[in-house]
Amino acid sequence: MINKLHINCTGLYKIFKVSDLEVVALRGVDLDIGYGELISIVGASGSGKSTLLNILAGYESPSAGNVQVGDFDLLGINQKEAVEYRKSEVGFVWQQTGKNLVPYLDIYSNIELPMMASNLSRSERKERVDGLIEFLNLNSVSSRLPENISGGEQQVSAIAVALANQPPLLLADEPTGELDDETSAMVLEKMRYVNENYGTTVVIVTHDPKIEDHVNRSIGMRDGKVVKEVIRKEKKKSEFVVIDSFGGVQIPQEILSKSKIESKASLTSDKSKISLNKIIKKNKK
Ligand SMILES: Nc1ncnc2c1ncn2[C@@H]1O[C@H](COP(=O)(O)OP(=O)(O)O)[C@@H](O)[C@H]1O
Ligand SMILES: [Mg+2]
Repeated sequence: MINKLHINCTGLYKIFKVSDLEVVALRGVDLDIGYGELISIVGASGSGKSTLLNILAGYESPSAGNVQVGDFDLLGINQKEAVEYRKSEVGFVWQQTGKNLVPYLDIYSNIELPMMASNLSRSERKERVDGLIEFLNLNSVSSRLPENISGGEQQVSAIAVALANQPPLLLADEPTGELDDETSAMVLEKMRYVNENYGTTVVIVTHDPKIEDHVNRSIGMRDGKVVKEVIRKEKKKSEFVVIDSFGGVQIPQEILSKSKIESKASLTSDKSKISLNKIIKKNKK
């Protein structure tokens, strides 16, 4: 179903140690993303989305499990390789526009900045910056400072910066978190445009389920795990629960409370169906 795998996570754990306390941010994430996919990761605040994205970006290292992105094994990577990985393999867009753009450089120079570390000549850089400006329709803002353009234009500029070194993977953490609905939709459509025209694999993290209308596949996270998946084909959306490698499933709270099943249930199955049945207590005589 998925083309060649670009991202492969299995049993991914991340534990943060804060003084004597341990916070388990990811508890066994399994995730496959193919080259050229446009995908979102949706979940409430604290569900582990940013932690997962930061691991994929090479900013954090996992505590256990496997994570492979392209030819890079991010668990075994050393610091030097991580720097190389971040430079050539991923572009990153943050929620805070201030984190994406250098405030005292105009948009043109912001897009050119990541290219300085590569060995492109001045004219090659110009050609590439002009290409990105044209592609993302940033002509009218290219000579302005970030503070003099709108929030939506800043995020589209941030996409251009992220694409400066032509990475095969674009990651965005709540890229529309500070934008109104209409501007958000515009920025998401730009991401789709990048995906469709450059073939870049795009992963967008958000707490806003409306994203499901802009992507083909959306992963739902809860409490550090992948719990559901929504697949959209044309206008039709299908929702699935995800079964982890140990056979675990998270049942949505609303279904659980409607059934009045509490901590135990009896399990019955046939060839294509598994049922959880409420235990009926027999009255003792
Ligand atoms: N650097 C950190 N140190 C300690 N705890 C962290 C750190 N980063 C995230 N966490 C914790 O990990 C959990 C998941 O956080 P995060 O990945 O930021 O979730 P999300 O992006 O879905 O809101 C939260 O409980 C959060 O407090
Ligand atoms: Mg977050």
